[in-house]
Amino acid sequence: MSAAGPMRVHNFSPGPATLPLEVLEQARDELLDWRHSGMSVMEVSHRGKAFMQVAAEAETDLRDLLGIPPSHAVLFLQGGATAQFSFVPLNLTAAGATVDYIDTGHWSRKAIAEARRFCRVNVAAEAGSPPVRVPRQEELRLSPDAAYLHYTPNETIGGVEFGYLPQSGAVPLVADMSSSILSEPVDVRRFGLIYAGAQKNIGPSGLTVVIVRRDLLGRARPGCPAVFDYAAVEAEHSLLNTPPTFAWYLAGLVFKWLKAQGGVAAMGERNRLKSARLYAAIDGSRLYRNPVAPDARSRMNVVFTLADPALEGPFLEQAAAAGLQNLKGHRAVGGLRASLYNAMPLAGVEALIEFMRDFERRHAKG
Ligand SMILES: Cc1ncc(COP(=O)(O)O)c(C=O)c1O
Repeated sequence: MSAAGPMRVHNFSPGPATLPLEVLEQARDELLDWRHSGMSVMEVSHRGKAFMQVAAEAETDLRDLLGIPPSHAVLFLQGGATAQFSFVPLNLTAAGATVDYIDTGHWSRKAIAEARRFCRVNVAAEAGSPPVRVPRQEELRLSPDAAYLHYTPNETIGGVEFGYLPQSGAVPLVADMSSSILSEPVDVRRFGLIYAGAQKNIGPSGLTVVIVRRDLLGRARPGCPAVFDYAAVEAEHSLLNTPPTFAWYLAGLVFKWLKAQGGVAAMGERNRLKSARLYAAIDGSRLYRNPVAPDARSRMNVVFTLADPALEGPFLEQAAAAGLQNLKGHRAVGGLRASLYNAMPLAGVEALIEFMRDFERRHAKG
């Protein structure tokens, strides 16, 4: 630690991901003596008045930020998005049901594999390539009797994002928004259910947010555990058992930070600008390449490869030394990836672009 404060790097991790500095500072400042209690927020009862207020405020702020209407319940759960891969079908379908899934990559496939344990899964469409692209609405082969249509608006590993909201008619639309929630405005009324692990745009890992249309509650299969039965959790205001209190508290601080930044509309503009700058730098270079069709490029996770893969090691090493960390692509696909969630400032993206240009100049052939 220097006299100027702690050394912070630009952290491009896909998740758990960088958090707003102001939020971390506030959490640090009140860690030992939270709200003059002489205790940290981690050490108080989740059923005490003080924590219940934190929990309720987090929900109110999230509702304000996303414009969540009263028709939808907000649940704070555990188990990550992966748990929801199972608990969405267990809560929304009866045995023998058909469900539609759009396959756009790694996380869609994980969701599909779990859903197959409980339902008949119709893969309504797959991502096309090359370059990688999102299937168009006309390409979706939807089942008339589907219990829901599931899609992954942003594929964190492939760096592929939907540029449109799929139409599913009367069939509830279900979205795994783990890596895109709160990154731009969405019309929540169009969704039957949205779920998201917290560790990208919400807060620390350990917390999972589910936003579900109330008329879909109360349909859980008999074997569904109570802690994952949406109706049972909703009836207890997500305090059916001990929740991850610190993660919930920190998510609440992030929501307040987002409001102070101008909300998700302001974030949407900032995120578009950040990713547009980075894609322009990639497209304007001879060394870097992005494999995704321009209208399907993710604003949150920018993937790229180097024309000479042997340079990846030196790139990562030198970037890290320059304070640009966690740029390695997912082990399933390799290459490089810069995750640009809400808490990544434009200055971080500009520093990355400058480093990339400098690296290219130093390694230009001929
Ligand atoms: C889109 C998406 N879905 C699901 C997951 C899995 O989330 P978790 O680790 O919270 O279960 C991730 C994790 O990165 C993700 O990016």
